[in-house]
Amino acid sequence: MKQEAMKAIAAAIDYEMLQSLQVKYLGKNGILTKELKILGQLPPHERKSRGQELNATKQFLEQAIRNQRTLLEQEDVKKVLERERVDVSLPGYGYPIGGQHILTQIVNRLIDVFHTMSYEVVVGPELETDHYNFSALNFPDEHPARDTQDTFWTTDGRLLRTHTSPVQIRYMENHKPPFKIVVPGRVFRNEAIDATHEAQFHQFEALVVDERITMGDLRGAINTMAKSLFGDRVKTKLQPSFFPFVEPGAEFSIWWENPRTGCSEWLELGGCGMVHPNVFKSVGYENVTGFAFGFGIERLALTSSGIPDIRYFHQNDVRFLKQFRGNGL
Ligand code: PHE
Repeated sequence: MKQEAMKAIAAAIDYEMLQSLQVKYLGKNGILTKELKILGQLPPHERKSRGQELNATKQFLEQAIRNQRTLLEQEDVKKVLERERVDVSLPGYGYPIGGQHILTQIVNRLIDVFHTMSYEVVVGPELETDHYNFSALNFPDEHPARDTQDTFWTTDGRLLRTHTSPVQIRYMENHKPPFKIVVPGRVFRNEAIDATHEAQFHQFEALVVDERITMGDLRGAINTMAKSLFGDRVKTKLQPSFFPFVEPGAEFSIWWENPRTGCSEWLELGGCGMVHPNVFKSVGYENVTGFAFGFGIERLALTSSGIPDIRYFHQNDVRFLKQFRGNGL
């Protein structure tokens, strides 16, 4: 019986077979259990040795079943490992990772340049009031920029800021001079959209206020920016112009070598000037002077990268975006 049981246990190839062998030999009505039950009917001198023999066999079979179960478990693990085997020699999948938008790259580059000159980065709201966007910046009431043809008004009388200059006022209201700040941000104009005009674009603004800030400081800041962007050979020029919040006011241009054409050309970038006394008055500043300048980021990106259409910036076409993986210029 023992021999036969051992053979059967070793041949059990799954848990069910093992379980039925357990029942067959060791269960309530199992062969061995029955033998043990009838022990009492044997003559006393046989009982002891028979009992020992049966108990040893019982332990032996129990152990054999445990061993076989462990074996089956090991087989299972092997099967799972086999099934989940990974071929590490197969070529892997490439996961595309994102990159910064070209406009973000340019803004970050500009921020780096101004950080080296100790400017602080400040931002303001895109939804503005007439006061910050126009009045406090010395725009007269009848100024055409307030026209709905140029400005997006909300039904509650607010507007989408048309430039980053309102942040000048917001900052000055809460800070005392001296300071140097730059303001990157999105602005909105009610434009007819074409290759060079969008209803939303980005500006980068600078404002410096101290006791004796001069036009020379303004030129110095613009020169440093231009040289950091385009190299030491660039030149800049200011041409008289008008903005209500500066006096004198100017447009500034950069004489740079266009890497695509190899030609040098003037790139008209933005507006600048000395902060108008009325602006200082509107924030309660006295005995200070300052300069400000501001320009469009898209304009800079369009010209310097040779992008033919301003609308590409916001279409989010990866074929366009992934061409700009460098520093944006
Ligand atoms: N805010 C002006 C514009 O949007 C640019 C500018 C900024 C001009 C600062 C002068 C000083 O056109």
